[in-house]
Amino acid sequence: MKVTAMDVDTAIRERRTIGVFSDRPVAQEVIEDLIEAARWAPNHKHTEPWRFHVVSGSAREDMCNAILDAGGEFKKDPRGKLMRSPLFVAVTQQAVPDDPIRDQEDYAAVCCAVQNMMLAATARGLASKWSTGALAENPAAKRWLGIGEQDRIVAYLYLGYAPEEMREMPAERRPAEVIWRE
Ligand SMILES: Cc1cc2nc3c(=O)[nH]c(=O)nc-3n(C[C@H](O)[C@H](O)[C@H](O)COP(=O)(O)O)c2cc1C
Repeated sequence: MKVTAMDVDTAIRERRTIGVFSDRPVAQEVIEDLIEAARWAPNHKHTEPWRFHVVSGSAREDMCNAILDAGGEFKKDPRGKLMRSPLFVAVTQQAVPDDPIRDQEDYAAVCCAVQNMMLAATARGLASKWSTGALAENPAAKRWLGIGEQDRIVAYLYLGYAPEEMREMPAERRPAEVIWRE
């Protein structure tokens, strides 16, 4: 894994959701670095519950067609989402329906893995967008990815390089509500 010069505090602060990407391709080694960062996420009982489905090029279109062919109502054309970036990584979790606590812990661990990926992406100059919504629940999308009906698409992580004008995204956060007890 290539070590980057950006420290973790800067990456945390500079990461912003950006959903518009240039055509500049993303090198495979960069994606491998993000996945390497992901697999070091904390996970209770060392279940390593994540799976990474890297979808790029014409595979994006193939997935869109599978979703559209299966029918259903869409508020927005899935192509507008799944084709927005040169590639996306669908990060999935195998459901554990008979053990709800483990299921929740596994979901949390996969979320940590996604954040690791976004921070590693930021440190490498990549833009990222975590997306869920109806497409994450779509049965045809799950079938296309080869996961079970109950498994979760925790994130569609869109990745690429932002166009120049999108690089300085303003961001606001309320001060954290903190309760100190001594
Ligand atoms: C679990 C999760 C799901 C999200 N799903 C969507 C989504 O479906 N569509 C979207 O536009 N943004 C989605 N986001 C991104 C948030 O909207 C974004 O993080 C928020 O606006 C704060 O902006 P920032 O990421 O630049 O700090 C999601 C974020 C998380 C953590």
